[in-house]
Amino acid sequence: MCGIVGYIGKQKASPILINGLLRLEYRGYDSAGIATIEENKINIMKVKGRVKNLYNLDGIDNLKGTIGIAHTRWATHGIPSTQNAHPHSDNSKEFAVVHNGIIENYNDLKTFLTEKGYKFYSQTDTEIIPNLVHYYYQKEDKDDDLKVLRAVKNACADLKGSYAIELVTSHAPNKMIVVRKDSPLVIGKGDGENYISSDIPAILSFTKDFYLIDDNEFAVLTRDAVEFYNNKLEKINKKVESIQWSATSAEKDGYDDYMLKEIHEQPNAIRETIGSRLPEDGPCYFEDLNFTKEYLDSINKIYIVACGTAMHAGLVGKNILEKLCKIQTEVDIASEFRYRDPLINTQTLCIFISQSGETADTIAALKLAKQKGATTLAITNVIGSSITREADYSIYTHAGPEIAVASTKAYTSQVVLISILAIYFAELLESVDTKIIKNLKTEILKLPAKIEETIKVDKQIQEFSRKVFQEKDIFFLGRGIDCTVAQEGSLKLKEISYIHSEAYAAGELKHGPIALIEKGITVIGIITDPQLVEKSVSNIQEVITRGAKTLIITNQDLPQNHFDTIIKIPEVNYLLSPVISVVPLQLLSYYISKEKGLDVDKPRNLAKSVTVE
Ligand code: F6R
Repeated sequence: MCGIVGYIGKQKASPILINGLLRLEYRGYDSAGIATIEENKINIMKVKGRVKNLYNLDGIDNLKGTIGIAHTRWATHGIPSTQNAHPHSDNSKEFAVVHNGIIENYNDLKTFLTEKGYKFYSQTDTEIIPNLVHYYYQKEDKDDDLKVLRAVKNACADLKGSYAIELVTSHAPNKMIVVRKDSPLVIGKGDGENYISSDIPAILSFTKDFYLIDDNEFAVLTRDAVEFYNNKLEKINKKVESIQWSATSAEKDGYDDYMLKEIHEQPNAIRETIGSRLPEDGPCYFEDLNFTKEYLDSINKIYIVACGTAMHAGLVGKNILEKLCKIQTEVDIASEFRYRDPLINTQTLCIFISQSGETADTIAALKLAKQKGATTLAITNVIGSSITREADYSIYTHAGPEIAVASTKAYTSQVVLISILAIYFAELLESVDTKIIKNLKTEILKLPAKIEETIKVDKQIQEFSRKVFQEKDIFFLGRGIDCTVAQEGSLKLKEISYIHSEAYAAGELKHGPIALIEKGITVIGIITDPQLVEKSVSNIQEVITRGAKTLIITNQDLPQNHFDTIIKIPEVNYLLSPVISVVPLQLLSYYISKEKGLDVDKPRNLAKSVTVE
């Protein structure tokens, strides 16, 4: 979803801005644009479609400005078009802005500004911002260094909704102003130059030192300094945070696609997730957590709230937390949770899972849980992301940047992290036999090697994908924890192959969905829970009888002649099996998408980071 880049320094800004936008392509977008300042004049260039189309614009090479803002737009208000692309400027071209987020009251503001004589040339909500800044700038009678900032602040006071705004102006051609509310934005600190981005990977090749700007804070950037202000325009101090990710970790590294790279990165990602949290002698350890037995004894419910794949990781987490900690655990979709007045109070622990840490619904759900007095814990991959600034506690997956829209290593590292968390709680609560804990810890440590082993099914999966890539519907079945993996496998397939797919609890089949099974349809079964093998096999038998073709992902010894294809994966404690059994499903959706000639990393209509509701 929309991306922002900004540069102020000594170098020509346009190549840096376009390079940054190219690194943000994975977020999903439909148009792009840049604005630079030269001799007090703002030059705006925009295109519909890919960032690289900017290179074809007449005059793009002649932009000499060393200050600029840039944007990739994902349409919310108004169709994807050059006109609607950002940057937008005010009528007199004195202010240019790029904006992520949604201005909910833009219609009222547009009416107000129209009455004042302003004209609008796009269908966007964003275009009101530079005009509103212009309106307030005109009203300023004090002509000092803060004049533009005051106008921006006054304009922001009128905005309802979410925004990360980057502004340049001919009135202060050596400065850039940024502000954020409920939309991500970071500032990269360089030497005699500074950067802005909605996403760290876009500017990681330029700097590893970042300032994190909070909601309703403003930053004024010059080449040599960044000054921060609160919403009363009082100066505030910020410390520089150093990010450990390397620039190459955000590149393809010889793989055809980021998704394939990230599937292969899972063993290492999980090693990083485990880190020093599972010491050989002694209990699980989280540097940032200080839960006590008394507190855990006092809670009567855990809620796990997330969206999409992160929610599927939560479903696995529920199984593990209930098994080990004996605390009732509910999983909810963030966009549902936030609007249904959930029954939570001071005795509820709410866990929010989000790879990006910027998902609007998940953050809103977290804020609601806090209002209701619950303790909140965020599981995320992005240090300093918005969610971490809201939650009482934050723990990190440390999986490295995930660029492909379809989440892979984030899911497996989330499952591993929540498993370690469950063990940490169980050790404090003494809720389960120590032998079980010991066994699980040993099994977690073996997961990276077992994923490496699992990835070897690649060729078999590729072969299978050639047989099914033209299918219209594919079904996924599983029982217990395998059902949660079926849901994730089905989501992955829909997302990047555009094949309609459904996942069902295998036992639920007879209650309706079996009516859809007809000759030749493909059904994928996941069978890893030893206690449910026979029941799962019977359910698969039911679809075979009705003519389905079957692919079974299993670590059990099943009769070979029953099924069309069996993919054998390494054995593991069934509670952790999703970390292994999801891998063939990730590869399957990847290879089907490739067979269909689709853009694996940037599926249609989807964005990596869903920062609007
Ligand atoms: C699916 C996928 C999405 C995300 C969801 C939540 O492959 O990537 O379903 O899991 O949008 O995103 P985060 O985890 O960033 O909150």
